[in-house]
Amino acid sequence: MCGIIGCVTKGNCYRYLISSLEKLEYRGYDSAGIAVLSEAGLAIRKKKGGVKNLFGEELSGRAGIGHTRWATHGAPSDANAHPHVCGKFALVHNGIVENYAKLREELSAAGETFLSETDSEVIVKLIARSYTGNFFAAVSSACSRLEGSYAIAVLCEDFPEEIVCAKYKSPLIAGASSSALFVCSDVPALSGEAEYIAAAEDGEFIHIRGGEIDFCDGAGRRIGKKFSKVTETSLGGRRRCATYMEEEIFEIPRALEDTLAWLNAADFAPCARAMRQAKKVFAVACGTAYHAALLFKDIVEKEVRIPVLCHTSSEFRYRDPLVEEGDLVVAVSQSGETADTLEAARLARERGGFVLAVTNVSCSSLSSLADFTVVMRAGPEIAVAATKSYNCQLLCLYYIAAQLCFYKKTQMPAYMPELASLPEAARASFKTFPAMDMLAEKLRGAQSMYFLGRDRDVRTAAEGALKVKEIAYVFAEGYAAGELKHGTLALVERGFPVIAVSTRADLAKKTENALEEVKSRGAYTVLLSQYGFMEESCADFKCKLPSVSEPLMPVISVIPLQYFACRMCLLRGYDPDKPRNLAKSVTVE
Ligand code: F6R
Repeated sequence: MCGIIGCVTKGNCYRYLISSLEKLEYRGYDSAGIAVLSEAGLAIRKKKGGVKNLFGEELSGRAGIGHTRWATHGAPSDANAHPHVCGKFALVHNGIVENYAKLREELSAAGETFLSETDSEVIVKLIARSYTGNFFAAVSSACSRLEGSYAIAVLCEDFPEEIVCAKYKSPLIAGASSSALFVCSDVPALSGEAEYIAAAEDGEFIHIRGGEIDFCDGAGRRIGKKFSKVTETSLGGRRRCATYMEEEIFEIPRALEDTLAWLNAADFAPCARAMRQAKKVFAVACGTAYHAALLFKDIVEKEVRIPVLCHTSSEFRYRDPLVEEGDLVVAVSQSGETADTLEAARLARERGGFVLAVTNVSCSSLSSLADFTVVMRAGPEIAVAATKSYNCQLLCLYYIAAQLCFYKKTQMPAYMPELASLPEAARASFKTFPAMDMLAEKLRGAQSMYFLGRDRDVRTAAEGALKVKEIAYVFAEGYAAGELKHGTLALVERGFPVIAVSTRADLAKKTENALEEVKSRGAYTVLLSQYGFMEESCADFKCKLPSVSEPLMPVISVIPLQYFACRMCLLRGYDPDKPRNLAKSVTVE
């Protein structure tokens, strides 16, 4: 959940550290810090709060490490901020040391005193205690004592132009350009800086020294690694909106175009056998990606007529899931680093499942453990709340469902030729934004609200509710409209907002009936639909959606809700890019 960066540069490393940390801030932003190494030794600056608190006089040196934190052990504070220092060593860490209490006890008994409450400080203490002149060996030896997850970058005063890094279950990327060598948690942190990148696997080390960057095993033996050219669009230069979230909503049409181009050019042949054989399918994901997975279940069960068992990744491994040899397991994750989804995918593979990943990051951990990866081309998503990646996940999942039909020789879905119209429909959906501005203004003071739908619109309702909770801090729930009478109706009173999404013509009347029910109890009713029946509708507030083929409407109907949540957030005075308590990629269980 934290972001780490390390670099050895031809000039001063300070600028690189600060600019990469700013790009990594979406991973955590409750404290930040850097360590810069020069002939004079280590210089440390670390502070509670965001990266901007590190601005000031340049620290000078060619090797440095940096960290932006999402607190797990110890509250956000200057002392708990990374880097942590012991003797000649400074360390930044992303992950959780699960046996830290035992190690801390052991180190305390040996006379060490701790300056922070973090689990990470034990690592730097272990390194310092193992050191007998061989920097790499000290880091490797310390790592052998750790349980849990870690991506670390370490500096040592005896080696002014070296960094030693290790990875286990937390992401670590190496990057290179003609002027600098890097390690970091995520590719976007290196955009505009690194020209080539390569991802470390669990158990691997990265050693920057003598102007080279090497991947090694624990004994320091080099591992051949292929670096690939950075293709991700540079961040930061294209902002036309005040926040990343707004910008990312406006990028949806382009993201859909790029994803469609990737899908149309992709060769699904490596999935052919698994798709042909699969008698059942699993889908695993968290949060927004889980809503996409639920929609996948709806599509596959309708179009392919085989069962799809959809699980939140965090529950999957504790349920002794029914995965058997030959099952197809679709793991959906924007970041490709969500710890629970990675564990779910690992378990599925162990049980003989074929893991098909849908991710936005081609060199992610999920992608490296999957049997096949569908890469959505949403482009880097910086705002913590997922928007464009959700629309692209849906597009990929519609496409995968069609591939299943193809390999199972069932009728191809009628929506297939219509996929090409999605980018234009997404563009057209922006016309709903003035209405959503008005709605957000009207509801800005709401304490709670319901989102309703039927069939696939239930998924959109759930996603709309999640967005509103996450960034506007308004309690919201998404329900199947037919469930109202079974309990939730009790909460409806005068002025209570109920937002219904209705995109299936044959169910429209039923959804309107639900609105009638809540309206007669005083609710403020809102209806989003692409149909003309809205004129006679009972809704207090109506918003006409652009039209695409009915089964594909979830890709479009969610866009006004994403925008609505963002407007609510801004009107209530919050930052949509950095919701409290949350981080973009949840790399711990
Ligand atoms: C909500 C949101 C989260 C993520 C979830 C999974 O807006 O962003 O719910 O969807 O943490 O993240 P990924 O897709 O990276 O696995």
